[in-house]
Amino acid sequence: MYVCLCRGITDTQIRKAVQAGKTEFRQLKQSLEVGAQCGKCVRMAMEIISTELDKIESDQAPLYYEVA
Ligand code: FES
Repeated sequence: MYVCLCRGITDTQIRKAVQAGKTEFRQLKQSLEVGAQCGKCVRMAMEIISTELDKIESDQAPLYYEVA
């Protein structure tokens, strides 16, 4: 799905950039130029970043906790 129509940036590109370590909007703007023109996509891009970070965090959570 296109998120940034001005730059032709998709949600997949944003998710891959987050997975590659660009976890802040500022970094995405520098690398993909998302939000660099009209800015209407900024909110959606930030929601995708947040969702992807939550997903990465839950994937890294331990499957069980040690009980003392
Ligand atoms: S839609 Fe992204 S800058 Fe315009």
